[in-house]
This record gives sequence, C-alpha cells and structure tokens, in this order.
Amino acid sequence: MNDVIKAMLERRSCRKYKPEQIKDEDLQQILEAGKYAATGHGWQSPKMVVIQNPEIIAKLSKWNAQIMGVKSDPFYGAPTVILVLADATKPTAVQDGSLVMGNLMLAAHSLGLGSCWINRAKEEFATEEGKVLLKQWGIEGDYIGVGHCVLGYPDGNLPKAAPRKDDYVVTVK
Ligand SMILES: Cc1cc2nc3c(=O)[nH]c(=O)nc-3n(C[C@H](O)[C@H](O)[C@H](O)COP(=O)(O)O)c2cc1C
Repeated sequence: MNDVIKAMLERRSCRKYKPEQIKDEDLQQILEAGKYAATGHGWQSPKMVVIQNPEIIAKLSKWNAQIMGVKSDPFYGAPTVILVLADATKPTAVQDGSLVMGNLMLAAHSLGLGSCWINRAKEEFATEEGKVLLKQWGIEGDYIGVGHCVLGYPDGNLPKAAPRKDDYVVTVK
C-alpha cells in the first residue's frame, strides 16, 4: 500500500487535544493541501478562515454548542480551527468545500496532527450574526458554512476505525 492510501486508511477523528499550538509550517502545508482540492469548474469556490485567537474560538464553540443544544466544547479544546466556507453562488459550493475539508484532515494526519470535522457551520453562517462576522473578517459575498476543521496535537490515543459496511461497494456487471 502506498503512503497516500495508508494515510487515508489510518486518519481518524481526534476528540481530545493538547493546548499546545501547532507549528506554523505545518499549518501552511495543511492550507496548501486544502487549496489544491479539486473544485467544480476549477472555480476554487471555497475559502478557508484560520482561527487561532482563543477568544474567537471560544465564541464559535459556544455558538456551535448552542445550535447543537449542549454545554460541552464541540471543538474539543483544539487550538486551531479552519472554518471552510464556500461561495453560495456556485452550484458545487458544498461539494467543493467538503473536498477541501477532506484534504485538510488528511494533510493534518500526514503531519502527525489530529483533526476532526465539526459540523453546524452551515447554521452559523446562515444567520445575520454570521454574515456580520464574515464582513468583519473582510469576507464579502454570499458564503455557505461547510465545516470547521479543528486541528491540534492529539491528547491520548485515537479510536480505532469502525469496520466497513459489507455492502459499501456495489459492482454492476
Ligand atoms: C459532514 C461531517 C460532519 C461531522 N461532524 C462532526 C461533529 O460535529 N462532531 C464530531 O465530533 N465529529 C464530527 N464528524 C466526524 C465523524 O463523526 C467521523 O468522521 C466518523 O465518526 C468516522 O470516524 P473517523 O473520522 O475517525 O473515521 C463529522 C464528519 C463529517 C464527514
């Protein structure tokens, strides 16, 4: 098995992070991997918003928890959040953003970092509050929230992969 496929099989969602920040050189490589995801028509419709400011992470976490109806930290203490948005005017926005998310998580794993897709970005950035936040960050236009890729050093072992479904693949003859 080659290294890329091995990484795909071994990546797992991390749900407990050390507070230590990730190295900027790792972050830059992860973002570069995100930029090179395939996009519909090559439009590069997604945007990646890097958030390392603890106050902003705490605010987003509280908001995300509220949407989910829980009091726990949905970001699991991760010191870096990459919020992936995609241009709502493009028909492939969600697919494009999802592929960026996949690249980010895989790149993080390849560098020995933990990651997890955290949902509810769609709900957050469909609100007026979300739109105001995007404006404050200098993001103009109509953007859909696709996901938050949280990143950091895993605190403890990652769970084992669930067995794959027997009927995952259908071969038509
Ligand atoms: C679209 C999507 C949304 C997800 N949202 C969350 C989430 O909000 N919180 C979370 O802990 N994990 C979330 N996950 C991670 C999944 O729970 C995880 O990928 C799944 O359990 C399989 O585990 P693995 O990533 O270790 O293979 C999400 C994954 C995807 C693809």
